[in-house]
Amino acid sequence: MRNFLVGGITLIMSGLFLGCAPKKEASISDVASKVYVAPGSHDEFYVFFSGGFGGHVTVYGIPSGRILKVIKVFQQDPETGWGYSEETKPMLMTSLGFIPWDDTHHPWLSQTNGEHDGRWLFINANNVPRIARIDLRTFETTEIIEIPNSGGNHPSPYGTENTEYVVAGTRFSVPIPQRDVPVESFKENFKGTISFIKANEPGKMDVAFQILMPGFNYDLARCGRGPSHGWCFFTSYNTEQAHTLLEVNASQNDKDYIAAINWKRAEECVAQGKYKEIPATYYHNYYDEEKHMAISEVKKSVKMIDPKECPGVAYFLPTPKSPHGVDVSDDGEYIVGGGKLAAVIPIFSFSKMLKAIEQKAFEKEIDGIPVLKYDAVLNCEVEKPCLGPLHTEFDGKGYAYTSCFVSSEIVKYEYKTCKVVDRAPAYYSIGHLLVMGGDTRKPYGKYMIAMNKITKDRQLPVGPELLQSAQLYDISGDKIRLLSEFYTLGEPHYAQGILASKIKDNVAKIYPLEKNKHPFAVKSEKEARVERKGNVVHVYMSAIRSHFTPDNIEGVRVGDTVYFHVTNLEQDWDIPHGFAIMGAENAEILIMPGQTKTLKWVPKAPGVYPFYCTDFCSALHQEMQGYIRVSPAGSNVPLKYYTGLPSPQAQK
Ligand code: CUA
Repeated sequence: MRNFLVGGITLIMSGLFLGCAPKKEASISDVASKVYVAPGSHDEFYVFFSGGFGGHVTVYGIPSGRILKVIKVFQQDPETGWGYSEETKPMLMTSLGFIPWDDTHHPWLSQTNGEHDGRWLFINANNVPRIARIDLRTFETTEIIEIPNSGGNHPSPYGTENTEYVVAGTRFSVPIPQRDVPVESFKENFKGTISFIKANEPGKMDVAFQILMPGFNYDLARCGRGPSHGWCFFTSYNTEQAHTLLEVNASQNDKDYIAAINWKRAEECVAQGKYKEIPATYYHNYYDEEKHMAISEVKKSVKMIDPKECPGVAYFLPTPKSPHGVDVSDDGEYIVGGGKLAAVIPIFSFSKMLKAIEQKAFEKEIDGIPVLKYDAVLNCEVEKPCLGPLHTEFDGKGYAYTSCFVSSEIVKYEYKTCKVVDRAPAYYSIGHLLVMGGDTRKPYGKYMIAMNKITKDRQLPVGPELLQSAQLYDISGDKIRLLSEFYTLGEPHYAQGILASKIKDNVAKIYPLEKNKHPFAVKSEKEARVERKGNVVHVYMSAIRSHFTPDNIEGVRVGDTVYFHVTNLEQDWDIPHGFAIMGAENAEILIMPGQTKTLKWVPKAPGVYPFYCTDFCSALHQEMQGYIRVSPAGSNVPLKYYTGLPSPQAQK
């Protein structure tokens, strides 16, 4: 309080001498109050950032920029045991084996009628092509599907207006089917694919169909809404079909293409049998919430549509040079291309596109796909917008905001007229940006976030590598106003923001114990036990404040494999227990209330090994521990287990 008063007096005095200083100071506190969320009160928005090379998703509260959770997706996590516990290992299975890492780029929130419905978040894996579903009741990954016939899943998952589908496209064209061919045979043997994955039923994600495309690099995507519902748009670059030194060889053409895919037409072709069922091996993994266990199934074929056999399924819109983003306006009528190397931002008209298709205003055809005439589909070009336009979102008031990587700024313009109205610097080298709800029919507007690639000199130095910065802007007025800066985990390529009120009342606080159908669960301490089956020992263990049952185990031998199946008997929010044992090569596990998780442990040498709870659960957390005795191979020490006094049965 005193500091505040002193500051106030300084302000008034400097105001007397300098005239304009008080105004500046006042605006700082005004800005600060816009991002201040008092301790104990909640943020207005959840924002989900991809983790990039971290393979996760990070959840922030906005406007405060407070981190709320890290969701494990395509990675192993030693804290929760994700990808290490026996139950979750199947989630990371692919046709290339167990792949415990990936590169997450684009989160996408499920929609109903073009608006966020708060049910799920989808996220792509760029390296081994996959899409994951995160359930927004539990904030856990519950399903992962692999995408066959793809060499890098970048334009994904970007779903449709009612989450009928999420989409995928191949960034790196590859031989389809995969086979041993010279790289120089790129033009004849390498192809692209665009995939539509059924997404609106949990546990039932499936590749509905794929469309065979020319061997370009497919980069980003957006699906239509309102009038353009039924269509999805994909940018492509490297239409030169170069296979070496792409920085030069893929920048030759003055225009590349946006592929416009009519998925309702594709559905018709599938119904009429105009596709080939081709062999393809890919995994579908899902997490059964009641069994607390993931299941993998292997799929063996996919429906492939060749545009030559299904006219009307695909068109190309010529787009200035090496486009990255392709974004559909909130009203569904305009399609904005972000040409990284282009001098303009082209804005296409969906209704003009339909007319051009009807009038066959084609300049040529590529592999059965008509190329529409640029002038026939163009609404207008934003001239000299900035350098390196990348990605665009909308505020629901007729404005578009495009990030510009090279000139490190955001440009705001009217998308119907292409008139620039404002611009704001980003520090530095912005990639994607996000407007709250900016890819829906009804953007919330209000805030915008820049995801910047370079941080140097913005924060305290922490060695050669710095975290990426995110900058929060107020876009409620005429002018874009920078509010604050915070730092993110991994490398967020994109984020999605949703009103917290659409999620928070549905979030699960526990897993009901009575619904726990895990085959190794115990519902009470009485059921806790140890069973030997040959060289395998199953420990059916319970955890409740502040002890394990059993907490003393003897009769395990070198050469045994021990599975600790730990059930957390708590039914109270935010009371996980942890389990860690000395010498475990995998992880600890964190078990949520009502959940069962299994940790595999292979003892190497005789001795007595401690195990303990790793999550501070009560005043007696430090007492939550136990011992397991390991005897030499072939020993006849009997199996014995107890908590408290050794039980008479166990003594036998
Ligand atoms: Cu249970 Cu600490």
